[in-house]
Parts: sequence; C-alpha cells; structure tokens
Amino acid sequence: MKTRALILAAGKGVRMRSDMPKVLHSILGRPLVWYVADAARQATGMQPVVVVGYGADQVRQALGDAVDYTIQRQQLGTGHAVLQAEELLRSQADQVLVVLGDMPLLTAESLQKIVDQQSRHQGALTMLTIVQSEARGFGRIVRDAAGHIQSIVEEVQASPEQLKITELNPSVYCFNGAWLWDALRRVPLSPKGEYYLTDLVGIAVKDGLSIQTVAAEDMNEAIGVNTRIHLAEATALMRQRINNAWMLAGVTMVDPQTTYIEPGVRLGQNCVIWPNTYLQGDTIVGEQTTLGPNTIVRSARIGSRCEIIAALVEQAVVEDEVSVGPFARLRKGAHLGRGVHMGNFGEVKNSYLGPGTKMGHFSYIGDAEVGENTNIGAGTITCNFDGKQKNKTEIGKDVFLGSDTLLVAPVRLGEGAQTGAGSVVTHDVPARTLVVGVPAREWRKLGENG
Ligand code: UD1
Ligand code: CA
Repeated sequence: MKTRALILAAGKGVRMRSDMPKVLHSILGRPLVWYVADAARQATGMQPVVVVGYGADQVRQALGDAVDYTIQRQQLGTGHAVLQAEELLRSQADQVLVVLGDMPLLTAESLQKIVDQQSRHQGALTMLTIVQSEARGFGRIVRDAAGHIQSIVEEVQASPEQLKITELNPSVYCFNGAWLWDALRRVPLSPKGEYYLTDLVGIAVKDGLSIQTVAAEDMNEAIGVNTRIHLAEATALMRQRINNAWMLAGVTMVDPQTTYIEPGVRLGQNCVIWPNTYLQGDTIVGEQTTLGPNTIVRSARIGSRCEIIAALVEQAVVEDEVSVGPFARLRKGAHLGRGVHMGNFGEVKNSYLGPGTKMGHFSYIGDAEVGENTNIGAGTITCNFDGKQKNKTEIGKDVFLGSDTLLVAPVRLGEGAQTGAGSVVTHDVPARTLVVGVPAREWRKLGENG
C-alpha cells in the first residue's frame, strides 16, 4: 500500500504580520514546514508533496528537492489546495496523508498510526482527533447519538451547541486515494467562498463509508502556529523534546531551560552541557566533552574529552582533548589538533594548529599553519592582511613565539625557531634561530635545547 504525504502550505499566514510565508518562520534554525516534511517522510517512507502558493519560490528554495511541489495559484480553501495535487498523486498513491505545514510538533509516530489505521480499515479516511477545552479556533467533530462521526463544523459556522464540543479537528487525515479525488469534486463552496477539506467527512458519511479516528496522545502535537506567540510556544516545546531525547541518550544538561540544540546536531555520550549554550547547524560532538556555559557552536566538529567555555565556534574542527576559552572565537576553517590549548581572548580563522600547541592569551591566528607543540606567546598576531590580500603564515613545530610577536605575512618560521618579546617578524626565520627586535633580526642560532 503506497502512501504519499501532502503538506498544505500555500497560505500567507496573515496573523504572523510578515511578508515571509508563515511556514518559513523558523524553529531552532529550521523552517516550520521542514519539521512537518521530516515527520511525513518518516511516516510514509516517501518524499512528501508540498502545496505552495503565497511565496512559492521562497518555500521551494527553503525545502529544495527534498520534497515535490504543486502550486495553488489562488487560496480557495483547504479542499481546493488538496485538489491541486491530483495530477501528481492520482496514479501514484493508494493513500494520501494530508497535514498542514504549520504543525511542526506532529511526530512521525502519530502520523504512522493514522496511516496504519487507514491501511487496516480501508474506509474513506482516518483522522486525528484531540479532546481539549480550549478550542483555539479548531473545527468541531460532530457525532451522532451512537457516537458515529457525522461531520466537521468550522468554528465560524458552528451553532452555540456545537461550539461546546471539545473533540476537535487538528487537520491530519489519511484518505483512501481511490475515493479522495472524486469526493473532492463534490465539496460545495462554503459561505466564506472556500472549498473546505473538512466537508469530505460529511460526504463520506453520505457515501456510507467508514471514518476512523486516532486520538492524539500528546495535545501539544496538535499545536498549529498562527501567531508569533504560537511560534514561541512551539519553539519551547520542540527544544524540550530535543533536549529530553539527548538526556535519555546520555547527555547531561545542567539547565535544559537554557540549552538550545538544533535538530541537525549529534552529541556523544557523557557530554555535559552548561547553561546558555547553543548548538546549531550540523554540529557533531564526540564523547565526554563539556560545552559552556555561554557557548555557541555552529556547524562545527568537536572531538571527545574537550572543554569549551564561553566561546563562539563556527565551521571549525576541534580534535580530541582540546580546551578552548573562556572568551575564544573559532572562525571558519579553524582546525585545532589534538590537545591544543586555546585560552582567553583568542581568535583563530582558516588556520591549523598542530597537536599540543598552546595559545594562552590575547592572540589572533589567521591563514596560518602551525606545527605541533608550538608556544604562541600572549599577544601574538598574524598580520595576514596587507591591505589588498590575505597572506599566509607558516610556523614549524616546537617554535616559541615571545609575547607580543607580530608576524607580518607572508612569512615562515622554521622548526624550533624563537622570537623575543615584541618582535616584528618581516622575514623568514630559519630553523633553530632566535630573532628579536623591530624589524626582527637574527640574534643567535639555537642548540638542541634552545
Ligand atoms: C483548518 C480546518 C479546521 C481545523 C484547523 C486546524 C478546514 C476548512 N478547516 O482550519 O477544521 O481545526 O485547520 O488548524 O480545513 N491552505 C492552503 N490553501 C488554501 C487554504 C489553506 O494551502 O487555500 C493551508 C494554509 O497555508 C494553512 C492550512 O492550509 O497552513 C490551514 O488553512 P487555514 O485556512 O488556516 O485553515 P483553518 O481555518 O485553520
Ligand atoms: Ca490555521
């Protein structure tokens, strides 16, 4: 039985008060609709189809080719939106799972249950239901005396009696594909001038077909984002869900309330995360690493047994047993070898620091290659930009840079070279040579032990 998911995302989302389509507002670094698409893909095992309309190009750009698209040029209602996928899906799916693009908290497990229920019963449709006293504008599920579903009534059209119904329609359905497309043609125009998908329920009843329901276990799953207040609520719940999963997987969080982990992040066992820490993008962290407090990691690879405190780490690679911070910044292309110590007020960009190298205080290393076990003295700076272009600095292993050394690139320092405090190095320094002064000159050759 082949099930395809259809995600409705053609509306503007007027209450967001934004030019950006509602489904592109983000939760933990990803657009709302990404979460829906991800859950739908997991539940069906197939690429979902997204109905786009308002801001179609932006939605396409955000989701790329991970989904298929169909366009709804005029927003004539949810029923009309589904009909736009007929050409794409009629011959391609035995069942169609319809979800709204603004429900990021729906889980793949719940969607799976609905799909399975529909596969077993083969009625007209299976739908998710919630029971909740706060109606939030949801359609009411109307049942007859025997408890059989009769119809869904939209809030604007509900009678005072119907408004009291607490069984609500979150708008998640799995339809029998053979029935769906022709039934959609029988949906009447509503007084609001829209074709309501919800009218299919009444039509199924008239056709004498069965309607199955699956009750939501977690009410939060049904939260639809209509305003920025809902967006903040959904963000908090998603954060909690992600954090709980990591804690169950063996990560300690000192304060989950102030720990922000995006869905693309991977963490090893026994990591400890201190408060006010943001792990973003496709960051990967090894085991037993301590992050934070006050640390932001964006799309970086961090090894095992590292300690990173009060740092901003972006698109960098940090190998095992490295310590960074407090107040450190690793920029794009920074690569710290095993056991590197990078202390306070340091910045590294597009540079490799070999294993065991120490950079304790107040340094900038940019566009450089540094060998192992080199000591980068306090205040060392690679002067990598000559006003026109970036130039490279190469520093060998076992080099000792005195405090306040300025390395005017392009420049190379051989293995075991040393610089005196305050040196301004403008020429290459041969191996095992001490240079001092401004500009730095050879002072003496060094023996085996300096
Ligand atoms: C819909 C349901 C309601 C349910 C609620 C849950 C209908 C008629 N009503 O109401 O029973 O309780 O969802 O949130 O279906 N969309 C399109 N094209 C359109 C119209 C809508 O793509 O022409 C998309 C929107 O982008 C939105 C979603 O469908 O993401 C829901 O549309 P909306 O108009 O907000 O429906 P509700 O009034 O919330
Ligand atoms: Ca809505």
